[in-house]
Formats: sequence, structure tokens, C-alpha cells
Amino acid sequence: NRRVAKLAAHLQPQIRRDPTAAHKAGFTVAVLGAAGGIGQPLSLLLKRCPLVADLRLYDVVPLAAGVAADVSHVNSRADTRGFHGPSQLPLALEGCDLVVIPAGVPRKPGMTRDDLFNINAGIVRDLVAACAKTCPNAVLNVISNPVNSTVPIAAEVLKDAGVYDPRRLMGVTHLDVMRARTFVSRSKGGDPNTIDIPVVGGHAGVTILPLLSQTRPFPKGGFTAEEARALTHRIQNGGTEVVDAKAGAGSATLSMAAAAAEFAHSVLRGLNGERNVLEHAFVESRLVPGCAFFASKVRLGRVGVEKVLGLGKLSDAEAAGLKALTPELSASIRKGFDFARASI
Ligand code: NAI
Repeated sequence: NRRVAKLAAHLQPQIRRDPTAAHKAGFTVAVLGAAGGIGQPLSLLLKRCPLVADLRLYDVVPLAAGVAADVSHVNSRADTRGFHGPSQLPLALEGCDLVVIPAGVPRKPGMTRDDLFNINAGIVRDLVAACAKTCPNAVLNVISNPVNSTVPIAAEVLKDAGVYDPRRLMGVTHLDVMRARTFVSRSKGGDPNTIDIPVVGGHAGVTILPLLSQTRPFPKGGFTAEEARALTHRIQNGGTEVVDAKAGAGSATLSMAAAAAEFAHSVLRGLNGERNVLEHAFVESRLVPGCAFFASKVRLGRVGVEKVLGLGKLSDAEAAGLKALTPELSASIRKGFDFARASI
């Protein structure tokens, strides 16, 4: 046994130096709402994530077991199990490093994300309370809308349980970043995989603020005022574009699953010790007075959000957009706080 311990000690520094070491760790990840439109493809994508060793698929409907059986046949190392109903929720959450939450109802045509508040607020409150109890150290990725309110609700629940760490709570706004990359590269050229466009603020209508002036690489000829206006409008209304196209059958699910899986992978890369993992997320922030939570570029690391990065230099139109979004975002955050304080 002494020889084994000596060998392990000898190998340890090599493992740390090994560039492929990132793929040696394995994390336990739960999806809450796994039987839904987002949850199913998200579960599939997470099953293929090389950093996931144990995948827990939970939903209130029994279909969770079927989704887990289906996804479990995909050949990857992630052990996959389904859990259904509140009595099995603690089993799903036990030992989780990351919990991704797409549980709740989606929009129908004519609805705003805020119209979902009455149903989804309670769902997020209860699920986060279960996380606080069973896996208080897990990173939480909240997808359920309205994100501008559900993340503050989650924060209050965690505070009430005495386990709040702002570095471990993130609202997922990565779909806004994906849309910006797609729409801008389609209209101005550039590679949608590598183009970098900050999208800050919140995750609803005008609170979504793409900073096109910071696009890297910056397109030749730049953006005319009209181009910037039209692209900003399309990025802000990308979700509604999908809701209308699905004509009552739901909101973005496939693109959202891709966004959530990519974002979760980045979170796990950070937890795994990879340096300089940069993403955008809706997190506790001091960037904008009046907004206790704000989406901006963040650096992810072993503890979750290692650093909230600044907004950089805004164009006049972007500065006006920031000023315009602040009252709405601030009100949505307050609505979340008020709901949580009144109901926990
Ligand atoms: P869906 O209705 O297809 O699926 C939701 C799933 O949640 C269902 O399987 C349902 O059984 C489950 N569920 C409901 N209450 C639950 C609870 N208490 N515990 C566990 N599971 C529960 O809806 P979809 O399309 O998957 O959307 C889910 C949420 O994601 C919606 O709130 C939607 O607005 C939001 N969304 C967020 C986006 C973002 O960018 N952050 C983008 C698109 C949608």
C-alpha cells in the first residue's frame, strides 16, 4: 500500500501537467425538467459531454424514466438514471456538482416571458430549495423563464437556507449569445463558431443588449446605424421568432438545449480547473446600479463564477440601450425578490 501511495504521489504532478487531464475528471450533473422540450435534447447532449460521469434526469412526469432509458443507450461513459416525482428528487440531487433547471412552462404566441412568472416562480423556488438541502455546493444553471426573476428567486431561497454563494448561481443567457453569433455572421460574414459578441443585461426583450461595437473580429465596414438597429432587434426577439414559428407548440427547445449544453460544458471545464473559460451569464453583479443581477461576460473556474468582467466601451446607441433596459430589468429582479420573500 505504501508503494501504491508513493506511485500515486509521483504521478500526481504529471496528471496536473497533462493537457488531457481535463478529460479525466467526471462530474455528477442533474437536469430538472428532463422530460420537456428542452430537457430531452439537453439530456442527450450532456450524455455526450466528456466531463459528465453521472447524469441524473428528473421530471415530475414518469416519462423521465423513459428518457433516461433512451439516452442511456448512447455510448459514452456517463452513467444515466431517471428519477420521477418529488419523492425521488433528493436521490436525483445527491452529490451533484451541477444542476441544470429547464423545468416549467414555455411561452405561447402573444405571451411575454413575464407571463410565465406565476407558474414558473413557484417551480424554481421549490426545486432550488431541494438543491439547497441536498446539494448545497452544486452550481445551479437556471433556464426557466423569466430568468430575470427566477434567478433572484433562486438567490433568496439559497440565502434563506444559509447556503448562498453568488459564484454558484447562474441564469443561462447563452442562447442570446448564440443568436448574436449566428445573425451577425450571416449578415456581415465571419465564422459563427469563433466570432465574439458580448450580449449583456438580462434575458427578455429590450433587456437583452448585444454590444455589436465590440464584435471581434470586427466586420469590414462596421455596422451602419440601421444594420445595428435591425440586428439588435432580431437578437432581442429571437425567442419570439421561434414561439411564433412553432405556432402554439412551444418555444425554443433545440437551440436552447444546444446553448445550455455548451454553457454547462464550460461550467464543468471551469470546475475541472481549466483556466480562462469565458462565457456570458446572468449573475449577481455590481456593474449597473439598481440591477443586483446582470448578464455580462464572466470568467468560470473551480468555484463557478471566478470574476464578473466589465462591460467595456459602449457605443452611444448601446449606452442608450443600457439606460433604457435598466428600469425593466430592475423591476423584474425586484419582482423575483418580492415573490421569494413573501413565499419562503
Ligand atoms: P416543456 O413544457 O416542454 O418542458 C418543461 C418540463 O418541465 C416538462 O417536462 C414538465 O413536466 C417539467 N416540470 C414542470 N414542473 C416541474 C417540476 N416542479 N419539477 C421538475 N420538472 C417539472 O418546456 P420547455 O420548452 O422545455 O421550456 C422550459 C422552460 O425553459 C420554460 O420556462 C421556457 O420559458 C424556458 N426557456 C428558457 C430559455 C432561455 O434562454 N433561458 C429559452 C427557451 C425556453
